[in-house]
Amino acid sequence: MSRGRRDTPLGPRTLDGAQCERMTQSEPGLRAPHPPLTAYYAREGDRGAWVRDLFDRTAGDYDRVERLLALGSGSWYRRCALQRAGLQSGMTVIDVGTGTGLVAREAARIVGEPARVLGVDPSPGMVGQARVPPGVRLASGSAESIPAADGAAEFLSLGYALRHIGDLSRAFAEFHRVLKPGGRLCVLEITSPASAWSRALLKLYLRGIIPLAARIVARHRAMPLLMRYYWDTIEACVSPASILRAIAAAGFVDVCRHVELGMFSEYRATKPRIEPRSA
Ligand SMILES: C[S@@+](CC[C@H](N)C(=O)[O-])C[C@H]1O[C@@H](n2cnc3c(N)ncnc32)[C@H](O)[C@@H]1O
Repeated sequence: MSRGRRDTPLGPRTLDGAQCERMTQSEPGLRAPHPPLTAYYAREGDRGAWVRDLFDRTAGDYDRVERLLALGSGSWYRRCALQRAGLQSGMTVIDVGTGTGLVAREAARIVGEPARVLGVDPSPGMVGQARVPPGVRLASGSAESIPAADGAAEFLSLGYALRHIGDLSRAFAEFHRVLKPGGRLCVLEITSPASAWSRALLKLYLRGIIPLAARIVARHRAMPLLMRYYWDTIEACVSPASILRAIAAAGFVDVCRHVELGMFSEYRATKPRIEPRSA
C-alpha cells in the first residue's frame, strides 16, 4: 500500500489490487453538488452560465496554472487513475468535462487510437485551448446532455468537473445511457480532507497561495477568481457517500471510491451487463 492511500477494510479487491470504499445503497434525486455560492452568482439558475463564462475567460491560462497547482493531479496521476479504473488499450472513451483535454490526452495514450476518444465540454473557450492528439474528437455538451448515442462507449471519465454539474442525478443517468453494458465509469475529484489539519493546509494552499501565484503567472485577470472558487466548491461539495449513493441510484454496480493522499477521490462503477428487472 502506498503512503497516504486510504484503503478501507470494507472494500473488495479492485482492478488495481487495492481496496475501495464501496456503496450498494442508492440515493435518488441528488441535484446540485453544493448550495448556490452567492458570493459569486445570485441564484442556482445563474450558476451554469457563470461557470461557463469563468472557464471561457481563463481557458488560456488553465494548463499553466494546473501545472503550478500540481498537487499530484498532473498528467501522470490522471493516467494512473484511468488505468486503476480499468481503462485498457482498444476501448472507446467519452471524457466529460474535458476542458483543455488533460484527461482525454492520457486516455488516448492508453487506448492507443485517438479516434476512440470523444471529449465533451460546455465551454467553447476551454475546448478551443485543447491540446489533444490528432483524431481525438471534441464536442460541445455537458454531463447532463452528452452528444452521443446510447451505449456508445466502454469507458466514461469525468475529471474535476463534478463540482460544476447542475444536476448530478441527471448526469449519472446520462453516463449510464452512453455506456455499453459492462462499461466502466471513472470520476476524479478533489475532496476536502477529513482531518482538520490537512483541510486547513489545503485551504491555505488553494485559497491563499495559489490565487496569489496565479496573479503572477496568469495572463487573465479572472484566474485568481477561478482558484478561489475552486476551493469554495471543494469545501461546499456534497459528501463522498452522497455521490456514491447517487451513482448507485443511476443503475451502476460495483460503486466504490478509492482515495489517494486523503483528498484525491476516484469514484468507480460499472454498468451491469444485464439490467435488473424492474419489480
Ligand atoms: C477544472 S476543469 C477540468 C478539465 C479537465 N477534465 C482536467 O482534468 O483538467 C472543469 C471543466 O468542467 C467543465 N464543465 C462545467 N460545467 C460542466 C457540466 N455541467 N458538464 C460537463 N462539464 C462541465 C468546464 O467547462 C471545465 O472545462
